[in-house]
Amino acid sequence: MVEIAVMGYGTVGSGVVEVLDKHAESIAGRAKEQIHVKYILDLRDFPGSPYEQKFVKSFDQILNDSNVKIVVEVLGGLHPAFDYVKACLENGKSVVTSNKELVAAKGAELLKIAQKNNLNFLFEASVGGGIPIIRPISQCLAANEVVEIAGILNGTTNFILTKMIREKTTFADTLALAQRLGYAERNPAADIEGLDACRKICILASLAYGKHVYPEQVHTEGISGIRLEDIEYAAAWGGVIKLIGQVRMMENGKIQIIVCPMFLSRDSQLANVDDVFNGILVRGDSTGDVVFYGKGAGKFPTASAVVADVIDCVKHFKARKYLFWDDGSPDYVESYLDNRVSLFVRASTDHETLAFQNVENKLGPVTRLFRGAREPGEIAFVTRKAPEREIRQGLRDLSGLGVQIQNVVRIGEL
Ligand code: HSE
Repeated sequence: MVEIAVMGYGTVGSGVVEVLDKHAESIAGRAKEQIHVKYILDLRDFPGSPYEQKFVKSFDQILNDSNVKIVVEVLGGLHPAFDYVKACLENGKSVVTSNKELVAAKGAELLKIAQKNNLNFLFEASVGGGIPIIRPISQCLAANEVVEIAGILNGTTNFILTKMIREKTTFADTLALAQRLGYAERNPAADIEGLDACRKICILASLAYGKHVYPEQVHTEGISGIRLEDIEYAAAWGGVIKLIGQVRMMENGKIQIIVCPMFLSRDSQLANVDDVFNGILVRGDSTGDVVFYGKGAGKFPTASAVVADVIDCVKHFKARKYLFWDDGSPDYVESYLDNRVSLFVRASTDHETLAFQNVENKLGPVTRLFRGAREPGEIAFVTRKAPEREIRQGLRDLSGLGVQIQNVVRIGEL
């Protein structure tokens, strides 16, 4: 029998305990050992819970129990999760986590400690919830050079954008609905400002290219600036707006990485990933495009990935799973301003004809877009493809020429 501890009894933690209990027999068959939850760490009390006897409030009780071989960390946040996980790995316990903030910030450091101590540090649930993506990238696609990864990595923002597109509700109203339905956090900034998606693309980039990418290195924009007007222009252009996390390896050994809303053509495989679903496209040099789709959040999808990692740990006590990447470096990420892109631009002006002369003078030829109920003086266009720095300079120049930029959205080629 293998004794484990679960740290955190929130949505994911309670799901993990329940899945381990409900499927105990089949899980034991797969792991070739009974898996027994000895402790559940939580500061709250759960009177009447069937697991009442297992609750502890002190981390040291888990750390000092040498019978506990695997610790599941589902506390979320960086502290105390980092300190607890580090202590577990330094004291002979393998760790399974769903905590993307922890892996995105400290993955290289924790993987190194795990390797040194011949233990496992597994985090399948940290990206895409129940969608298998960490293992496929590190194992099944290992024969490929990963050309690019691009994904809809945040369910909350995808739900909001999908509703705005389908039902023409404003961003503020749709966010309030997402909160009522329990999708968005009470403080939804990590979701809507793109930070959650940023952490996830950092983990995928680190895994795919073998070197840590820190969230602070990634240019990140959320969806709070997206207006219904932009959504209508995207439809007129032939697509939809999605929040995308994207990373590519360049020939110079640096990576391009970004999180931002993008116009995606309706033909894109990611354009029809709707509601709270996630979709992740991995472009391999041998495989071509491989797309992973499913529920990226929620109690049981995430618990399923966590429990699968626990089973894997049990099966690999002696042979460590090979999951590793090096420390990052400040010069590893190319500035997003050097990426070649086309931009959608929505602007206002008092003089449309003159404005378009100035636009084409500064930006070269553009494709003009129209929507049904256009405000007087509202103009919209898509630029040619050029380094973003050049286009941004052109847009700054235009503000002195009677063209006020209202919003800019990148065109995704996915
Ligand atoms: N807030 C996240 C989302 C939860 O909406 O996708 C899963 O990481």
